[in-house]
Amino acid sequence: MSTVIKGGLVIDQTGERTADVVVDDGRIVAVGPDLSGDQVLDASGCVVSPGFVDLHTHLRQPGAEEAETIETGGWAAVRGGFSAVVAMPNTNPAIDCAAVVQEVLLLGSQAPCDVYTSGAITVGRKGEQLAPMAEMAGLGVRLFTDDGNGVQDAGLMRRAMEYAAGLGVVLAQHCEVDSLAAGGQMHEGEWSSLLGIPGVPAEAEELMVMRDIALSRFTGAPVHFQHLSTGGSIAMVRAAREAGLAVTAEVATHHFTLTDEACASYNPVFKVNPPLRPADDREAVREGLADGAVDAIATDHAPHSPDAKEMPFDQAPPGMLGLETALALALTELNLPIAEVVGLLSWRPAAIAGLNGTHGGPIAPDAPANLCVFDPDEEWTVDPDDLASRSRNTPYAGRRVRGRVRHTVVGSRPVVVDREMRP
Ligand code: DOR
Repeated sequence: MSTVIKGGLVIDQTGERTADVVVDDGRIVAVGPDLSGDQVLDASGCVVSPGFVDLHTHLRQPGAEEAETIETGGWAAVRGGFSAVVAMPNTNPAIDCAAVVQEVLLLGSQAPCDVYTSGAITVGRKGEQLAPMAEMAGLGVRLFTDDGNGVQDAGLMRRAMEYAAGLGVVLAQHCEVDSLAAGGQMHEGEWSSLLGIPGVPAEAEELMVMRDIALSRFTGAPVHFQHLSTGGSIAMVRAAREAGLAVTAEVATHHFTLTDEACASYNPVFKVNPPLRPADDREAVREGLADGAVDAIATDHAPHSPDAKEMPFDQAPPGMLGLETALALALTELNLPIAEVVGLLSWRPAAIAGLNGTHGGPIAPDAPANLCVFDPDEEWTVDPDDLASRSRNTPYAGRRVRGRVRHTVVGSRPVVVDREMRP
């Protein structure tokens, strides 16, 4: 059964035009004026863009299904306009071998969005021994990370980079030097002093960014930096790119929307790793998105059950939800042209994950039909009870935002229609 998306402004990496889009049998069939189909999705006043690609989603399965499953995380993704997510490997057991990759991909095949997975760089994400990256790459894994932890040992990281370059995969780093971050619960600065909460200095992140840029130069292997949060990190990445190194970077939504001052509430919903930083860093993150130093917006969607997140600040786990609010926050806070926001959420992350061709556009006949339709002007209030995620730990409860996903199409199937999930 064909579907026509009618009356929207189509935006992809080739430009903008008003057009209808017909999808059927997994593919885009036609793009142009006055098209028809068996069912109609109204897109008047809306943008029709490639479905978004999240490079950084914690789906929690296997092992923490009380917080999220691949299915519930998949619904959160499509409600946020994402047609593809890359799952992080800090599950239990970790996604560090072919068997666990296969399990995640099998469960992902039942999810409403396309589920890809990263693989761990080291066995059990322990930072001691390289994981069997080749066997995971053989199953299609393109991004390797120990996310949740950085790889501490520079020699091991060098070997991982050499190995990754040979396999044609990308290493993604959670930049955090454990010996500097140990015991820290929020950013180390004025607010941590006032609140008496132990801090994590910016240098814990920046030293690892510096080291891995040097290792990338040394080995020639690409490196992708995850959830960068400080002005110093952004400046180093900008310089490395200007020098022609194979360096890419993402920032998480919360690092361009919130600051460490939010922790003054002692509410663990604002606890995240890397931590919320001061306003200067938030500004630097925004500048990085505006001037191209940063490639992608990632969600770092990190669901935690109420039991866990309602612990005292120092005992609660770090992490916040992100999939269902990312587009609205980017449109509301970044002051960028809509096409640039769409690029940061779709074709640019798709290229890093090796998904271009399948996700991220262009919107043209024969291309896979993975699309998002959103109203860039609709204002709404974030309500934790109106989220598809199994968890409720959004730091944006009650916040007014602008820009709302209306429909999401994955493989030509409308999985979200007028914001309703279509199982
Ligand atoms: O805040 C975070 N939460 N940072 C991480 O690196 C891991 C994540 C999680 O898994 O909850």
